[in-house]
Amino acid sequence: MKKINVGMLGIGNIGTGTYRGLAMNHQKILDTTGLDIEIVKILNRHPEKDRGIKVPDGVYVQDADAILEDPSIDIVIELIGGIEPATTYMAKALANGKGVVTANKAAIAANGQRLSELAQEHHCLLRFEAAVGGGIPILTSLTTALLANAFTEVHGILNGTTNYILTQMSEYGKDYEDVLRDAQAKGFAEADPTADVEGIDAANKLSILMSLVFGIGVAPGDIPTQGITSVDSNDIAFANESGYKIKLLASAREEDGKVAGNVEPALVPDTHPLASVSNEFNAVFVTGNIVDDLMFYGRGAGPLPTGSAVLGDVIDIASKLHKEAAYDTVSKLRYDAPATFVGEGASKYYIRMMAVDEPGVLGRITTVLGSFGISIETVIQRPGHTDRLDAAAPHDNAPIVPLLFIVHKVERSLLDQALEELLAQKLAGSVENVLRVEE
Ligand code: HSE
Repeated sequence: MKKINVGMLGIGNIGTGTYRGLAMNHQKILDTTGLDIEIVKILNRHPEKDRGIKVPDGVYVQDADAILEDPSIDIVIELIGGIEPATTYMAKALANGKGVVTANKAAIAANGQRLSELAQEHHCLLRFEAAVGGGIPILTSLTTALLANAFTEVHGILNGTTNYILTQMSEYGKDYEDVLRDAQAKGFAEADPTADVEGIDAANKLSILMSLVFGIGVAPGDIPTQGITSVDSNDIAFANESGYKIKLLASAREEDGKVAGNVEPALVPDTHPLASVSNEFNAVFVTGNIVDDLMFYGRGAGPLPTGSAVLGDVIDIASKLHKEAAYDTVSKLRYDAPATFVGEGASKYYIRMMAVDEPGVLGRITTVLGSFGISIETVIQRPGHTDRLDAAAPHDNAPIVPLLFIVHKVERSLLDQALEELLAQKLAGSVENVLRVEE
């Protein structure tokens, strides 16, 4: 039996889930690994707050250094979130020879390379399985069982909050704000839900995946990112009627040394496995050149599922403590592939616009799109929405109607130019939404 002392920075949703998970399965972990893992200190700046767990006296500390500088602590779990001071704390723990486990996608996406180099330098291990896909063991799979593969693409539903919102809006016609509050109450959403609903959380996770899948470093801010706030009941109804589900997809694919990737609500055909991923569940779909297509599915958010990933990393590090770590491949970020990142790339798109309802307009719209080489797959005209007339009419008294298109594969920048032209020619009053259509 080997005693492993763990210090935990933060005791919010994931910290509580991790603590409860260890309490539930401590004996099972001991029986199967011989590791007696104990969380001996927890940084908790609000000890008066009831977390619903029983913590022995003396475990809560107020100062991070009480953990980072404690020589008896073997592993530090960082769960405070945000880039700073989390990165500084992790760097200090590694410099002091401790293993580090984190669920912090923002800090890893921003500083993962520096932290993994620091881990190598100090012969420590750094793990961040919980940063992508909650309880899904995607990073460990990519860096161990799938290491023999070269990958051509990765698609993921990587944010539980937005998937929960889109599912509830689509299946039950629920209101966006109500569903968001529900997701926050269930512990999926970030404290500030902007990162979830604007796609920033998913972009952080895609940045980490791109490093492990393609060996390319793309800052989350350089990934074209659109959240779900533009998706409304018109889009949901069109998708439902046309055999699609709207999903916030984080996607990247490589062709001829060029990696394209983005985060965007996309229309996913009902027949695609990702279409059936509902509520807070996440999924990651990867294609390797040896293994072919794989889909990983599970709870992408929530205290216990994410705690499961944290504990898996703690056990992995604990089982390797004092072994040579210099050649560690697990969760080691790579930015050395001879590939370039080219942004969003080409795709089919769904477009919802308010178009002028006059004879010949549809023909002129298709002519403009055709002049940009854009071909239409589907078009639907809805009866007018009078409440939108003032806001969206391109000229006084123009009757307008919602027009919904799907166009064949086109570069996003070219599509944007064509849509600008429709607005300039006053054929459309406004472009209300543009969503990628997954094939
Ligand atoms: N807020 C995140 C989500 C938590 O909704 O997926 C997991 O990273």
